Amino acid sequence: LSRASFRKGFVFGTATSAYQVEGMANKDGRGPSIWDAFVKIPGIIANNGTADVAVDQYHRYKDDIDLMASLNFDAYRFSISWSRIFPNGTGNVNWKGVAYYNRLINYLLKRGITPYANLYHYDLPLALEKKYLGLLSDKVVKDFADYADFCFKTFGDRVKNWMTFNEPRVIAALGYDNGFHAPGRCSKAFGNCTAGNSATEPYIAAHHLILSHGAAVQRYREKYQKTQKGRIGILLDFVWYEPLTRSKADNLAAQRARDFHVGWFIHPIVYGEYPKTVQEIVGDRLPKFTKEEVKMVKGSMDYVGINQYTTYYMYHPKPSKSNDLGYQQDWNAGFAYAKNGVPIGPRAYSYWLYQVPWGLYKAVMYIKERYGNPPVILSENGMDDPGNVTLAEGLRDTTRANFYRSYITQLKKAADDGANVMGYFAWSLLDNFEWRLGYTSRFGIVYVDFKTLKRYPKIKVGFVYILFTAPVKVGKI
Ligand code: GCO
Repeated sequence: LSRASFRKGFVFGTATSAYQVEGMANKDGRGPSIWDAFVKIPGIIANNGTADVAVDQYHRYKDDIDLMASLNFDAYRFSISWSRIFPNGTGNVNWKGVAYYNRLINYLLKRGITPYANLYHYDLPLALEKKYLGLLSDKVVKDFADYADFCFKTFGDRVKNWMTFNEPRVIAALGYDNGFHAPGRCSKAFGNCTAGNSATEPYIAAHHLILSHGAAVQRYREKYQKTQKGRIGILLDFVWYEPLTRSKADNLAAQRARDFHVGWFIHPIVYGEYPKTVQEIVGDRLPKFTKEEVKMVKGSMDYVGINQYTTYYMYHPKPSKSNDLGYQQDWNAGFAYAKNGVPIGPRAYSYWLYQVPWGLYKAVMYIKERYGNPPVILSENGMDDPGNVTLAEGLRDTTRANFYRSYITQLKKAADDGANVMGYFAWSLLDNFEWRLGYTSRFGIVYVDFKTLKRYPKIKVGFVYILFTAPVKVGKI
C-alpha cells in the first residue's frame, strides 16, 4: 500500500467543521446558531463544555494549514458557519466573517492545499429557528439556497469542491427523533425533550434538507458551474449494517436499516424518490416530492461524500408492543454490537464506534452497486481516545495509525474492485469540540492541549508516510 496505489488525482486530506474548531462563537459579528443555544442547557455537554473558544482555528488557521502541509496532505475539508456570514440567517452580511473565510481559503491555496468547503455542519442560524422553527419549515429551502448562492459567488473563484450538508440523517434523527443534538426535539419516548413529534418531524426536517440541497445545487449549476468549473455534492454518514445471521428475516432487516440510514437521502438524489421500504413503512407520514421537486432533486450531485466509521449487526426483532412510531422504531430492525458475546470489533472511546475496517469496503461497494457508481470521497473516517489522555500518551498513537492503515487498505480494495473513489479525509485534523461529548473525546491526528491550545502532531513522521509503511509497534513512534 502506498499513495501510488490510488489513482492519479486521488486526494488525502483531513476534515473539521466550523463549530467544532473555530471558536470566536460570539465575536467578530457572528450570530448564534442552534448549537450555541443548545450547549447552554445545563448538563447537556460533558463537563459543561462550550465551543466559544473551541480550538481557536479562527486565529490559528495559518499554523493549522502549515501543519497540514508538513504532514503531507493534499486537501482540507472545512465548513462555513452560516451565521458567521449571515448573523440572522438572511439579510445583512457580516463582512468580517467573509474576510475570515477569504483568509483561510487563500492561505490553503498558498500552501498548495485544495479547499473542500461544506456549507452546513449542524449549525443553523438561531434566528431562523426562532422565526419559523428552522428545518421544520419549507421557508428554509430558499434561505439556504440564498446563503449557498452568496458563498458560490464570493468564494467560488477559488473553491472548486462544494458540499451542501453534512450528515442530514444525523440532523434529522438526532435533532428531531431522540433529541441528542440541537435543536433537541423528540417525542415523550425519550424523556429529555421539551417539544416534538418523532413520528413525523424527522421526516419533515429530512425532506426540507433534501430540497435545500437540491435548490442550492440548482443555483450552482445555473449560475456558477460553467464559469467556476467546480463540483458539488453532499455528505452522508453510513454505518454499515451486517445481518446478524444468514436468515432471510435478518437480511431484510439489514436492508431496511440501510434504506432508512443512507437510502433516505441518496435514493431521492439518484432516483427521485424515497426507498420503497421507507415509503411503505412511513406511509402518510412521509412528505411527497412534487414533479418540479423531483426534477430539482434527481441527479443533484456531482459526487457524494461518505462518512464511514463503524458497522453493526442487524436482526429482525421480535414484535414489540411499542406504539411510539419514532424514526428509529420505523426501521423495524434491531441492532447489536456483538454476536455470541463477541464484539464486532474493538471499541474506540465513543460508545458507538467499533473498529470494523471491512465495513468500509462493504459500504463503498454498496454505493457503487446500488447507486450507479457515483464519484465518491471517503469524507470522514477516524477514531477517538478519551479526553483525559496526557500529551505523552496521546503521542504514542499506534492504535490510531493502525486504524487508518487498515481502513485505507479496505478503501484501496474497493477502488481496485471498481468503486469510483476520488479521495480520503481523516476525521479529524485536530482534537476538537465533539458535540455532546465536549472535550472528553479526542479524534485528532494532532493532539491539542485544551488549556494552552498548542498543537502536537500525534503521528510525528507524517500521517501518510506512517500509513503506508509496516504496522506500527507500540513504543516505536
Ligand atoms: C459529523 C460528525 C463529526 C464528528 C465525528 C466524530 O457529523 O460529521 O458528527 O462532526 O465530530 O463524526 O463523531
